[in-house]
Amino acid sequence: MKTEIPYYNPELSYEDNYKEGPFGYFADIVEKPDPSFAVSVKKPVSFLGCSVDLPFGIPAGPLLNSRYIKAAFHAGFDLCVYKTVRTQEHKSHPLPNVLAIHPEGVLSADCEAVLADTRYNQPLSITNSFGVPSFNPDIWQPDMAEAVKAASDHQVMIGSFQGTRGKGKIEEDYALAARMVAETGAPVLEANLSCPNEGVNSLLCFDAPLVQKIVEAIKAAVPDRPLLIKTAYFKDNAKLADLVSRVGHLVSGFSTINTLSARPLDEKGQAALSPSRPEGGVCGDAIRWAGLEMVQRLAAFREEKSLDYAIVGVGGVNKPEHYKAYIEAGANAVMTATGSMWNPHLAEETKKFLA
Ligand SMILES: Cc1cc2nc3c(=O)[nH]c(=O)nc-3n(C[C@H](O)[C@H](O)[C@H](O)COP(=O)(O)O)c2cc1C
Repeated sequence: MKTEIPYYNPELSYEDNYKEGPFGYFADIVEKPDPSFAVSVKKPVSFLGCSVDLPFGIPAGPLLNSRYIKAAFHAGFDLCVYKTVRTQEHKSHPLPNVLAIHPEGVLSADCEAVLADTRYNQPLSITNSFGVPSFNPDIWQPDMAEAVKAASDHQVMIGSFQGTRGKGKIEEDYALAARMVAETGAPVLEANLSCPNEGVNSLLCFDAPLVQKIVEAIKAAVPDRPLLIKTAYFKDNAKLADLVSRVGHLVSGFSTINTLSARPLDEKGQAALSPSRPEGGVCGDAIRWAGLEMVQRLAAFREEKSLDYAIVGVGGVNKPEHYKAYIEAGANAVMTATGSMWNPHLAEETKKFLA
């Protein structure tokens, strides 16, 4: 497995990554695809009514703006999600925002303590802690419109958004955010209901009645655009069944998972992110089991309840074989955040593997 310069630099602040990135290979291909990129692709497939070359891409997070999105499309990631935006400016947590973590084997879903540092060795797992920053809509809307235009034939730009708590009814802020994203021309919307920085047990996606209200409000505001909802890992299958019963017929798909929560500690046993941030979301290799399990469970409910939502499998994909495993588990599309950050050639490698 290659370790390359990541296109998002964990040593720089979110704002500096936004201004100066992407880095490494992605920096070279923002304006045009690498001329050596030559992959014979199979017949395009349909994903949520859009034609895509390979339903493989990068989920919400590491693609901060249209420059990152352009580079990712040029690198052959055919589904690119623009980092989650909000209806108003929201500052990022200070550094560190990303640290490598070193669980023994896979990570449990019990918010366990893990060693965190800056040794970014493969197979890589990281904690990310940003607090879902956003610029004001007057900055991100024109930029997202630019990102939408960057998609070539058989590529799709997905706009991720979330509402902000404490601003009146949360469902109304979600609906407003959805409308603002739709105005950019994004052909597919994704509502993030699983921000790990809002507390492990208080994730929106675990409150099925509230998710139903949010989905209904979004669909009323933007009835004509496919809607994905991004969820965390559900330990409790009955809760997942309840969520599917309430919204499985309203949404176009589930994107899962976001991250597993953990308590990153430095070598002295102190909170590695900051004393005020004892928990962080973990992504990368250590959570693949959880993403695959969620995909299998959602696929089983889809069949059992005769529904037809799509499933986007996310979590721990860092090899072409992992794409295949997610598709075999029932996913209609697969995405890689951590894996792509440290290996921007993963789409090309996956296409070659499948050719
Ligand atoms: C740097 C970074 C930032 C992220 N920011 C967001 C975000 O804004 N919205 C969101 O829904 N998920 C966010 N995520 C979570 C990813 O979309 C994904 O669900 C998670 O990283 C698991 O995939 P992976 O194992 O391939 O990294 C972020 C992940 C990373 C690595």
